[in-house]
Amino acid sequence: MRSQSPTASQPLATSKAGLLTGRVRVPGDKSISHRALIFAALASGVSRIRGLLEADDVVNTAKAVAALGASVEKVGGEWRITGCGVGGLRQPEAPIDFGNSGTGTRLMLGVIAGHDITVRMVGDASLSRRPMGRVLIPLKRMGLQVEEDRDTLPLNVRGSSALVPFTYELPVPSAQVKSAIIIAGLHAAGETTVIEKEATRDHTERMLRFFGADVRSVVQDGLTHITVRGDGELAGHDVTVPGDPSSAAFFAAAALIVPGSDVTIEGVLVNPTRTGFYLTLQEMGGDVAFLNTREEGGEPVADIRVRFSKLKGVSVPAQRAPSMIDEYPALAVVAAFADGVTCMQGLSELKVKESDRLAATAAGLIANGVDVKAEPGALIVHGAATVAGGGIVTTHLDHRIAMAFLTMGLAGEHPVTVDDATMIATSFPEFRGLMEGLGATFTDPIRQTE
Ligand code: S3P
Repeated sequence: MRSQSPTASQPLATSKAGLLTGRVRVPGDKSISHRALIFAALASGVSRIRGLLEADDVVNTAKAVAALGASVEKVGGEWRITGCGVGGLRQPEAPIDFGNSGTGTRLMLGVIAGHDITVRMVGDASLSRRPMGRVLIPLKRMGLQVEEDRDTLPLNVRGSSALVPFTYELPVPSAQVKSAIIIAGLHAAGETTVIEKEATRDHTERMLRFFGADVRSVVQDGLTHITVRGDGELAGHDVTVPGDPSSAAFFAAAALIVPGSDVTIEGVLVNPTRTGFYLTLQEMGGDVAFLNTREEGGEPVADIRVRFSKLKGVSVPAQRAPSMIDEYPALAVVAAFADGVTCMQGLSELKVKESDRLAATAAGLIANGVDVKAEPGALIVHGAATVAGGGIVTTHLDHRIAMAFLTMGLAGEHPVTVDDATMIATSFPEFRGLMEGLGATFTDPIRQTE
């Protein structure tokens, strides 16, 4: 596994591309990759994972489950995990570093909650600012103990082998919170139920069923009740991870805004809880087609063909936000090239991502000459046929801000620079190489030494 010494920041710039053409395969979905490792570690026997995202966030989760006693090895192109059974993980010898990953931290809090172990959890500067109270509050009700009286990392947490089952209505639409409680519920004697008002990504529910857990989802009066039976067993299972629609989003955005482009992104996850971005692009007049739709390992997958299009501004409803929560920076970039106003609502969760993404997106657009207004929970972008570019974007340790604005530079009049591109490796180390393969040009403005 890759070692993670802190690296110096590294600016990167893109400039106007001719046209982007070809086929591209993006790496495995980040959400599914984290879950595959975690459920494999909680299962008895061997699980083989193909297509696992080998980016820092997921590698940190792999290291975490290894530190807790699961056997993790890479054999050829697949990851082989030998799990310890539900409740069978062990006390780690050292603190566990989750790097930049909120998903890894929150899901693993659900795991640690169910074990009689004490763990010191640490992360980078971005992760250490992110709110953990949203998972700590319900998990404490189930039996997790937290030494510190705060809700940010670093934290010393102590789990319990006698967790209490629980029913919890999510106060925020968060798949991470839902998943942490369901995972803890695997370890509680009885039934644990999470109630959600707005559907969030359902990979935990789908994948746990494959591993043999008793997980039921019932819709009642517009609310989804997800119930897991605790104290069952999970059996090792093979998982093939589909391509990440959140990584594919940058290629779709680039193809739409760079004149003459025609790009097909192969094997992308098109689970309806993740496709709000693509639906919005179609509403904007984008030529976006899902081809060869099929089912792989319990998830729908398609090849997405995107061609340069004349776009118009649209209103994106707040209810759609959970199905495209990570794609707003990319959508804001596309909106800058559309004719008219794009109004995005229901964005308050963007404030607690790897950065305050609402503020960082607005600032990046302004730096590149785009007319934008940020309101509490909303972003209003006034598009134009040409975007000046020429700005330097502050990324605040946020990979998606970096990739979104590098995408903008491919169609702006002047190059767009991001102040730091190193953290792209947290989710998508192949981003630059794959974009270059389609015809994009990157430049390293200043080489900094460590
Ligand atoms: C994720 C859920 C989302 C998303 C994150 C991955 C997951 O976060 O932003 O990148 O894998 O469950 P929230 O659950 O906090 O909305």
